[in-house]
Amino acid sequence: MSDEELALLNDLLSSELGIIFAESKREILESRLRPRLAALRLRSFRDYYLQLQYANGDGASERRELARAVTNNETYFFRESYQFEALFEQAIGGIKDHSAQPGVIRMISAGCSSGEEPYSLNIFARENAFRAFGWSVEIDAFDVSDARVRAACAGSYTETSLRGVSPEQVQRYFHSGDGRYHLKPMYRAGVRIRLGNILDRASYGLPAMADVIFCRNVLIYFSETSLRRAIANFAEALRPGGLLFLGHSESIIGLCPDLEPVRLGSCIAYRRV
Ligand SMILES: C[S@@+](CC[C@H](N)C(=O)[O-])C[C@H]1O[C@@H](n2cnc3c(N)ncnc32)[C@H](O)[C@@H]1O
Repeated sequence: MSDEELALLNDLLSSELGIIFAESKREILESRLRPRLAALRLRSFRDYYLQLQYANGDGASERRELARAVTNNETYFFRESYQFEALFEQAIGGIKDHSAQPGVIRMISAGCSSGEEPYSLNIFARENAFRAFGWSVEIDAFDVSDARVRAACAGSYTETSLRGVSPEQVQRYFHSGDGRYHLKPMYRAGVRIRLGNILDRASYGLPAMADVIFCRNVLIYFSETSLRRAIANFAEALRPGGLLFLGHSESIIGLCPDLEPVRLGSCIAYRRV
């Protein structure tokens, strides 16, 4: 892949998906896109760029293939669960007091991959139901990869997804069979999963403003322009006082005046002013 091809593809990836591949990640991008070039019988990455940019009809379907090919979908149940603990043990009271829709706590999982994050959140909500007695938790989860959205809707997992779950918890939350683990229906209820793009606020499909947004281990792959657009969208989707949680290696301090950092136990979240 030439410098020019990397720059063209990065422009397109950044504006469509937010993602950018640094010079040092060029080979990763190449290896992820090579199967697409082969499938389409294209000779160069430039031809692939032109196909994405200009082909009628096919351009749109190829963009779905592109999202599948370039995204890193790594995730597992109860990942960074100290954030769920902080949310339910320390913040839930304040969230109820200022909820946009009394009786409902509305959460978003943005970049939900195959569903481990929103389902973990839902499990925590059910285990902590006594902290918000009489309230329902609704979770809108979305991802830009249609393959991941289908996997999330299926709610069926291998052991890899359960590496952070104890054997007792596996028994409690999953039915097992055929070497797979199927999340029990009661832990799927209340989670809506859809295809959506963090850069396109309308695609979140929210019926009302959100109280909490989780967007973890997604923005690390974003260009700076897209990062700013993403957090402006989150600020718009959150009601005043609502909370944004990012992955532990991600920070937006100083990037958006509408989102101020707050300490919750051992973690930092961002509160909509
Ligand atoms: C590394 S996974 C993280 C999954 C989960 N949030 C976690 O922390 O375990 C990143 C996910 O973000 C999704 N993603 C990347 N760009 C996106 C965008 N613009 N809109 C929605 N999802 C996106 C990818 O498809 C991928 O499934």
